[in-house]
Amino acid sequence: MNYKEKLITAQQAVDMVKSGDYIVTGLGCSTADAFFNHLHLAADRLKDVVISTCLPMKDYPCFSDPQYKDSFFHDSWFYSPATRKAHKAGNTSFVPNCLHFAATKRLAHRQPNIYVGAAAMPDEHGNISLSCSNAYEMQMIAAADLVILEINPNYPRTFGDAFVRLDEVDHLIEVDYEVPALPDVPPNDKDKVIGGLIAPYIKDGDCLQLGIGGMPNALAEMLMDKKDLGIHTEMLTTNMMKLFQAGAVSGRKKQLQNGKMVCTFIMGSKELYEFCHDNPSVEVLAGSYTNDPYVIGQNDNMISINASMEVDLTGQCASESIGSTQFSGTGGQTDTATGAQKSKNGKSFICLYSTAMVKNPETGEREEISKIVPQLKPGAAVSLSRNDVDYVVTEYGVAALRGTNIRERVELLIGIAHPKFRDELRQQALDLGIISQR
Ligand code: COA
Repeated sequence: MNYKEKLITAQQAVDMVKSGDYIVTGLGCSTADAFFNHLHLAADRLKDVVISTCLPMKDYPCFSDPQYKDSFFHDSWFYSPATRKAHKAGNTSFVPNCLHFAATKRLAHRQPNIYVGAAAMPDEHGNISLSCSNAYEMQMIAAADLVILEINPNYPRTFGDAFVRLDEVDHLIEVDYEVPALPDVPPNDKDKVIGGLIAPYIKDGDCLQLGIGGMPNALAEMLMDKKDLGIHTEMLTTNMMKLFQAGAVSGRKKQLQNGKMVCTFIMGSKELYEFCHDNPSVEVLAGSYTNDPYVIGQNDNMISINASMEVDLTGQCASESIGSTQFSGTGGQTDTATGAQKSKNGKSFICLYSTAMVKNPETGEREEISKIVPQLKPGAAVSLSRNDVDYVVTEYGVAALRGTNIRERVELLIGIAHPKFRDELRQQALDLGIISQR
């Protein structure tokens, strides 16, 4: 079949879905927007269809509307606001994973009937770039019975190994929606302080992985005068593009993919997507490769920077849930934090504000709590184990935990807690037997 014969509408794609099907879509911007805008319209004839997503940037009725619960169940490798809403409505469940193994482990459990995702336009040779994500999509495409791509002139055609040939695709839907852009989170004062504490650890020639959020943005702004930085990251961000454009990133000191910025997905501004189009300086490689700690460790001077929500006094990092309520996902946190520590002179930083404002369930009032805690909230998922934690950073300082004993950790972590909680934390550490009285 040639290009024209493969063209269908989103409605025709939905007509191919059967009860009991397992549908996988792409990560973030690669979610199949036209298909999911239509899928709920088939709810009357469908039952028990399962949809897998990862960090979807929009909500759709088939994800979160409780009236379609019997027709569609949704599960996700990484929660976003849309998935958190769907979870509350009883429509979704979380799939625990480290991103480099997400597809491999899922496929051991279940094979997809349909892969449907966003992609760039085919080139003159019939190659279709999966554009903004290669986290697990190629593995799922290889396994799916039916492959449907939404091809879009607004999606960047990216280099790397996320190309499928026209003959590997069953159907194409021509669409022209914008690539969903991530709002630029302006760094606040705390972000700037934390960024300022990490910046001195980063030297010319280091290789960076930065997570999502205001703090990595603040840090990136402080690195603009660096030289020969490299990028080997899960997510390519707008600020990494700005570092490249400022001449701070060359990739010339990297051991792997020398001279290239390597990522497994792209998420950021419209300018970032334009920058990535037909740009051989950016390689979008498989998540099973990019995020493999063994691969990450092959670049020297790897610096990994990620966020957490709660850290206990022994160094366990709860980065993805608030108690047992799933908030996001492990994503690449374990992959990149452990990979960086395999690297010669590599370092992993876990950042968090020292406190959070949360609603007291009894009074209903918002109150300030410490994010450095004697014990994690009951049910909290440990995203990074205390065996793998390295540096922890708050606006009060940097705790270098690698190789330390629990007594040393307690002191180091209390030292970066908000001063008003420090005495209480020390007393709780004693009361709980985390440390003993000498
Ligand atoms: N107790 C209760 N609530 C807490 C909390 C705590 N200890 N810590 C944070 N929160 C609340 C915040 O108040 C905030 O609520 P709000 O949205 O109502 O303001 C919310 O949780 C988010 O917290 P915040 O500290 O602002 O998180 P963040 O924006 O820095 O994001 C995550 C952090 C969730 C993205 C990050 O921890 C994560 O997902 N990490 C794992 C994934 C990862 O590292 N990937 C790396 C490769 S990209």
